[in-house]
Amino acid sequence: MNFKKIPKLKIGNLEAKIPIIQGGMAVGISLSGLASAVANAGGIGVIGTAGIGMLEPDAAKNFTEANKRALRKVIRKAKEMTRGIIGVNIMVALSDFYDMVKIVVEEKADLIFLGAGLPLKGLQMLVPDKLKKVKTKIVPIVSSSRAAKIIFQYWKKNYNHVPDAVVVEGPLAGGHLGFKKEQINNPDFTLEKILPEVISVIKPYEDEFDKGIPIIAAGGIYTGADIYKYIKLGAQGVQMATRFVTTYECDASIKFKETYLKCKKDDLMIIDSPVGLPGRAVKNKFLEEVSSGIRKPFKCSWKCLKTCNFKKAPYCIALALTNAQQGKLEDGFAFAGSNAYRADKIISVKELIANLSEEYEKA
Ligand SMILES: Cc1cc2nc3c(=O)[nH]c(=O)nc-3n(C[C@H](O)[C@H](O)[C@H](O)COP(=O)(O)O)c2cc1C
Repeated sequence: MNFKKIPKLKIGNLEAKIPIIQGGMAVGISLSGLASAVANAGGIGVIGTAGIGMLEPDAAKNFTEANKRALRKVIRKAKEMTRGIIGVNIMVALSDFYDMVKIVVEEKADLIFLGAGLPLKGLQMLVPDKLKKVKTKIVPIVSSSRAAKIIFQYWKKNYNHVPDAVVVEGPLAGGHLGFKKEQINNPDFTLEKILPEVISVIKPYEDEFDKGIPIIAAGGIYTGADIYKYIKLGAQGVQMATRFVTTYECDASIKFKETYLKCKKDDLMIIDSPVGLPGRAVKNKFLEEVSSGIRKPFKCSWKCLKTCNFKKAPYCIALALTNAQQGKLEDGFAFAGSNAYRADKIISVKELIANLSEEYEKA
């Protein structure tokens, strides 16, 4: 492998050999297997936490404890499997958001990625000071320069500290999207447009806080040539998720991966998630039934997302995604980015990273 031309990615004192962050994927799509493989290949591996406790045997009875236990276990396992860089993705909308953040800090993960909401109050535990060292670097995920501005202004005023990097996620990403439905195909909301806007909002904070704050582009980035394009546009790295699903090391069942291999461009659809955000997923019978008004009864033993209106929701998203992760796609569905239809075989993470680096160099 020749990494001469693809640049490194520095976030504070962390240095990834290649500027690729594997986006955190819940429920259970990126756990210790995928995250450690990416870290071993020189990128940054990220564990997805939403619903992580669903994979524990006592999830229904004891969801908060199961969640905490599962997260601790997965971080420890990932660290046993690599000496590379490991991050954890936490949705701000989770009801046990603060418990999850606390575990990430205690377990000394390298980075914490905070998306699906604005990470503002109550995060003192992430701020280092004279009395406490915090190893975990903070990386919010935003979909607009407005969100970036609100977060940085708040952190400056309340913590006298600002995040260490920012992921800018455009509308071509998979999973929940930080856009209104009508913005998704609107040319004013493309990643190419939002990225430079976020860069100009963050730039002054680099001087003021005397640190580099790399901006990472995400959403629809699929090839080495795409990586090159966004680095040229001013990003210091990229976050990619969809492309990592069709690897041996991805923690989902083979049936989940096969939904990507089989899917066509037209099969990718935008859903109204019970979370209150649009999301991109692979169309299947389950989603077709839901769109035609069929309800999928469930018992909510623990309202896992603050924003979920579980009394009205036609199905439980945590359950549907857990079923999909385990290959039970008749009772769930796969989230996927807009490029999911492009995969035609499963390869190793090592091979994928080598291909991306080579494509980058050619570009
Ligand atoms: C199956 C799947 C699950 C995802 N789950 C999460 C999640 O739990 N939290 C999050 O912030 N982003 C999630 N995402 C978004 C990714 O982390 C990533 O930023 C995005 O998909 C990048 O676009 P790409 O998939 O086109 O590379 C998910 C994406 C996919 C495909």
